[in-house]
Amino acid sequence: MLTTDQIVRTFLEFFRERGHELMPGGSLIPSPGDPVLFTTSGMHPLTPYLRGQPHPSGRRLTNRQRCLRTTDLDEVGDDTHLTVFEMLGSWSLGDYGGPQSLQWGYELLRPGFGIDPGRIHVTVFGGDEQVEPDHESQRTWEQLGVPVEPTTHDNWWSNGPTGLCGPDSEIFVWTGPGIPQGTPTFDDRWVEVWNHVMMRYVRHPDGSLESLPRPNIDTGLGLERLVSILQNKRSVYETDLFQPWLTLLPPLWESLDEPSLRLVSDHLRSSTVILGDGVTPSPNGRGYVLRRLIRRTLTTLRQQDPTRSLSDLPPELIDHTLDHFQQSIDPVDVRTVLLDEERKFDLLLERGRKILSNKRFGETLSEHDYRYLHDTHGLPRELIVFLGSESGR
Ligand code: SER
Repeated sequence: MLTTDQIVRTFLEFFRERGHELMPGGSLIPSPGDPVLFTTSGMHPLTPYLRGQPHPSGRRLTNRQRCLRTTDLDEVGDDTHLTVFEMLGSWSLGDYGGPQSLQWGYELLRPGFGIDPGRIHVTVFGGDEQVEPDHESQRTWEQLGVPVEPTTHDNWWSNGPTGLCGPDSEIFVWTGPGIPQGTPTFDDRWVEVWNHVMMRYVRHPDGSLESLPRPNIDTGLGLERLVSILQNKRSVYETDLFQPWLTLLPPLWESLDEPSLRLVSDHLRSSTVILGDGVTPSPNGRGYVLRRLIRRTLTTLRQQDPTRSLSDLPPELIDHTLDHFQQSIDPVDVRTVLLDEERKFDLLLERGRKILSNKRFGETLSEHDYRYLHDTHGLPRELIVFLGSESGR
């Protein structure tokens, strides 16, 4: 069985053998001037080059990039979503086109990683009022003998309402039992692992599309998802990446149910990586995302047992995470911040209890109460709900 490290090496080596330069793996913090809080996709650090600036390492690139998405927070805990995850990427900056990228993608997944061709399904852009269907990708997949499903919205990639965008082709692998059924759009046992974007346009604020002078290919493969498929695991949490978490946490916090165990592992691992990239908790911006992750962890832990504390967190878990992401922060500093945040959270809980014991708050809180408690006393809704469950409100 391939380990995560072997899978990463195989991917990067495959593209290096095909003339791609390896770029250093980037931090979660985007470069100055980038409006996003965190890097959300492997292409992020390449934005100026995808827009046309020549890249010092040439026109074929590959890398491994850590990413963070808060848009998926509610899905964290299912089999495939994580807050911090890694993407393996390949890029053609105005060099080869979509068919070559798709052919290499198939070659790597099939003979490279040995995925059964019967478990692969792809989707392509089916066209809309502005852009015609992606016939080229459709033809490429048909020649390779892979089943194709055209869609409109699911096969258009953009980084936001304006900016770089283009049609994409997504590769799915069947993760259900037995013979694959249905198509990726109608059966979510088809899990998306690799997205190939034909990055050909820039969208302007009025919605119009401008063709880039030099079309690019931007691909991103979800590392943890591929690992769970290749290691034959039902979820990303059962892979070697999470093995220390799922071994050390259950005996420590007994009776944590599976969804809570997954959430706590994801959020503590993500918090460690964010801290490792130099962010500290704060009332806004990146620091607030970090604070929310730590507080969500604490509410999840305390809901079942109010005596649980992050001071019991085994140091190996922090070491393992920093090691995996090759971060040089002192693990003791990570621990200090986590415990400091826990203390602040406890003080906030104490204050919240006092405020909520006021007779003006009835059995059930109104929307007005929530707003008042937030705006006047700085108590977030999550925390009020938590205190409510404590007092049986
Ligand atoms: N930018 C594309 C994505 O995030 C491919 O890297 O899916």
